[in-house]
Amino acid sequence: MRILITGGTGFIGCHTTVELQNAGFDVVIADNLSNSNAKVLDRIEKITGKRPDFVKADLSNARECALVFDTYTDIQGVINFAAYKAVGESVEKPVEYYKNNLGIFLNLIENMTHRGINYFVQSSSCTVYGEPDSLPIKETSPVKKATSPYGHTKQIVEEMLSFITKSTPVKAIALRYFNPIGAHESALIGELPNGVPNNLMPFITQTAMGIRKELKVFGNDYPTPDGTCIRDYIHVVDLAKAHVVALQRLINKEYKEDLEFFNIGTGRGFSVLEIIDSFEKSTGKKLNWTFAPRREGDIIQIWADTSFAEKELGWKAQEDISSMTLSAWKWQEALAE
Ligand code: UFG
Repeated sequence: MRILITGGTGFIGCHTTVELQNAGFDVVIADNLSNSNAKVLDRIEKITGKRPDFVKADLSNARECALVFDTYTDIQGVINFAAYKAVGESVEKPVEYYKNNLGIFLNLIENMTHRGINYFVQSSSCTVYGEPDSLPIKETSPVKKATSPYGHTKQIVEEMLSFITKSTPVKAIALRYFNPIGAHESALIGELPNGVPNNLMPFITQTAMGIRKELKVFGNDYPTPDGTCIRDYIHVVDLAKAHVVALQRLINKEYKEDLEFFNIGTGRGFSVLEIIDSFEKSTGKKLNWTFAPRREGDIIQIWADTSFAEKELGWKAQEDISSMTLSAWKWQEALAE
């Protein structure tokens, strides 16, 4: 069965391509390469022995999007990773974020409904919950007012899907990711941010590599045990596997609602200092870091209740925190070779 993976050369997309191919699916990737590199296709081929088909396309452009479906008439499902994803940038450029993230989604759905393609997996985010009232957070927890245009696009797509899946044959699963880190065990694929990383893990590995002088830990006076923010970090390979089971649930018609939401995390929270500690212990590298003021917009703490995903998807994260930090480091080392 042929699956279209949009944004498939990006961090989560390429790991998902590998897992889908391993599960026997044929993949076509559509990506505009705005934040990724076509070389990742060689890497995927090295890992799986199979080169995914690839179309360079700006899916926010209706004609380019339709051309992908015209070229690959055997597409039966879509996994949508194509989106701008920088929280801070989205505050600076809200119009671009709405136009791109919502435009891509609408173009995809329009082509799907016209062509009878009914399986859709959407890349969503725990950011839809905002600052949680209680922890661990469940899928039934309220979706709070978005604090950035980026988060708002994730909420809007979820809402649009809830109407679309009611009145069309398209059925969908939105996976609400927590904080994906780590890399494939081969160290052939991993996270490759453009410029100075915003996210914690690539900043840590680049600092340990000497590319950055020191890591700034944003805030040490939060009401948490060690004063730093807590997140639910999940290994990107575990996350990739969640997409395979979500897709299979749609194909096998095992879904209980037209649109379902699942938390994709480990169910455990780690503070920034615990991540640094895990990095240092798993790699044997000493990290240069210092405390800095709080970063605006950061929520204090969040981690997932994963029992619904376990029960319904039969999926549970397997990798522990040291495997996440070590694999991220091995990828960073491989980049330097
Ligand atoms: N952090 C630092 N120093 C850094 C970078 C991050 O201390 O240089 C801290 C942050 O303050 C936060 C934690 O590390 O406490 C994680 O920060 P990330 O930027 O890696 O991740 P976020 O939790 O802020 O954001 C992630 C995704 C978003 C998503 C959000 C949902 O990157 O796309 O989770 O909560 F919207």
